[in-house]
Amino acid sequence: MISTVTMKWNGNFLELIDQRKLPSVEEYVRCTNSDCVAQAIKDMIVRGAPAIGASAAFGYVLGAVENKEHLTIEAMERVKEKLASTRPTAVNLFWALERMHSKFLSEVDNEEREDVLRILNEEAERIANEDVEVNKQMGMYGQELLPKSSTVITHCNAGALATVDYGTALGVIRAAVERGKTVHAYVDETRPYLQGARLTAWELLKLGVDTTLICDNMAGWVMKTRKVDAVIVGADRIAANGDTANKIGTYSLALLAKKHGVKFYVVAPVSTIDTDISNGIDIPIEERSHTEVTEIHGFRIAPDGVGVYNPAFDVTDAKLIDAIITERGVLKYPYVESIAKVVK
Ligand code: MRU
Repeated sequence: MISTVTMKWNGNFLELIDQRKLPSVEEYVRCTNSDCVAQAIKDMIVRGAPAIGASAAFGYVLGAVENKEHLTIEAMERVKEKLASTRPTAVNLFWALERMHSKFLSEVDNEEREDVLRILNEEAERIANEDVEVNKQMGMYGQELLPKSSTVITHCNAGALATVDYGTALGVIRAAVERGKTVHAYVDETRPYLQGARLTAWELLKLGVDTTLICDNMAGWVMKTRKVDAVIVGADRIAANGDTANKIGTYSLALLAKKHGVKFYVVAPVSTIDTDISNGIDIPIEERSHTEVTEIHGFRIAPDGVGVYNPAFDVTDAKLIDAIITERGVLKYPYVESIAKVVK
């Protein structure tokens, strides 16, 4: 059983808060099969690297239930591929699916099908529960880097909604507040999908954090004219050298932070590190629909026929990152060595 704002799992179905409708409507979508979970990831009903990973793990369990009568390696590879083909950048998706699939492979000769399903269910719940623990641990490490009274800028949504619970970048803010520190958060609206305006502002206000919404192009001016201590963001995939893919706009923020002497922190679990990729150039970057740029809530804001480029993520050079906060400690540049130490 898992029950958080982001997701609810009872062994038979997965309920996901529909993040497309927040903050105006708080509604859950119920998935009783793996197709539904795959579609929910594709459609951004659930989004954020760790939340996608955990959802896919539950989708894998539902896929096993669907194939109960013929629980073969081929059938489960098809389930895995279907879930993996939903979004390309966040590596937590592939990490969670690999973990589920290797658990299945270790049980494939078990004739007791009910046992196999139970073991897969336990593994998916373990992934979800570990995510919450890991976020709290990162929050604890990360808050130590913030002064007693601090001002931060965050981008996209790396809160409870992007995880099973607690959040990564917002977990740091949350942990600081829990320890009596005061934090003023500037929230980038995060065009085109507005995760900052819609989700991060909603979450931070619920947590009672002093929150100011800005358009993305205001961040440089805020750094220049107000005292900002740190930019804190999450990550979708970190290469072996520390280059970090995160929501489009993160790279510009890192450059601005360097220019203005503001600390730039990435908060991500070790499961977001992909040591198969040596540097950021090789991280696959998802491109999304043109209408995300030409329309706002279905209202056309650009002329017909205009060309559009809509990369959903960018890559920030490791050199621009002051620290990568993981559950196994705070990593410092050069990341090749510090990452190798925490990744087993
Ligand atoms: O396209 P999204 O909304 O899934 O992108 C999410 C992000 O870029 C987050 O910053 C990242 O996944 C870290 S979430 C803890």
